[in-house]
Amino acid sequence: MRLLLIGPPGGGKGTQAKFLVKNFEIPQISTGDMLRANVNNSTDLGQEAQKYMKAGKLVPDSVILNMIKNRLSDEDCLNGYILDGFPRTIPQADGLNSLLSEMNQAIDHVIVMDVPDDLIITRLSNRRSCNKCNRVYNLIFDPPKNTNKCDNCDGKLFLREDDNPDTIQQRLNIYHKVTKPLIKYYNNMGINKNIQSQGTIEEIKLDILSKIS
Ligand code: AP5
Repeated sequence: MRLLLIGPPGGGKGTQAKFLVKNFEIPQISTGDMLRANVNNSTDLGQEAQKYMKAGKLVPDSVILNMIKNRLSDEDCLNGYILDGFPRTIPQADGLNSLLSEMNQAIDHVIVMDVPDDLIITRLSNRRSCNKCNRVYNLIFDPPKNTNKCDNCDGKLFLREDDNPDTIQQRLNIYHKVTKPLIKYYNNMGINKNIQSQGTIEEIKLDILSKIS
């Protein structure tokens, strides 16, 4: 199964990808997570990407496509994968198409999670992530037992650097202008599954599973 998740920042892509990983036993490929790992390890790529991420801008397509090309050739991707946050531009989608045809592969479903902007702002300003195991919480919708500590591993919970009001707004503007056209792009291929993205985490999980199983 090869899946692609399209949605705004804070649309719940990462949250639902975690369930899909368990359900289909295929890896989640999150370009955001890959970039953050590079930033944390101070690689050349991380240093280049950080300035864009901090400003809520997109990292250049060439950097992203190179990173994805390497990742898709890993052995754990042989039975499928979940693309989370990639592609985000038409050139990235065209690059993915070329890559997939070279590999004799195709995307089975594009899961579209279109959530209204006001809900996004509430979700993202209340998101907290664990600094050890990366588990994601929400202080309103999916709270940890203790506001500052991870339930899993005792790690410290933090607010992502790009989850401040100005950067959230910038990310949303880019989503509407540059990423949303991808919904039509994949609709033309007839593989979109539109998800009612305003329900609870559990309701959305069931909606996705019913539409792709
Ligand atoms: P990335 O990390 O991909 O950020 P994003 O797309 O902005 O998405 P998020 O991770 O913020 O949100 P999500 O949809 O995963 O939501 P989540 O499940 O956490 O990218 C970061 C940056 O990297 C980009 O800005 C860019 O600079 C760069 N980048 C990455 N990929 C790139 C690419 N392909 N090209 C160029 N640049 C790239 O949920 C959010 C919160 O809501 C959580 O607290 C969660 O608990 C809660 N929640 C989830 N679902 C629900 C629900 N149904 N009800 C209530 N709360 C919910």
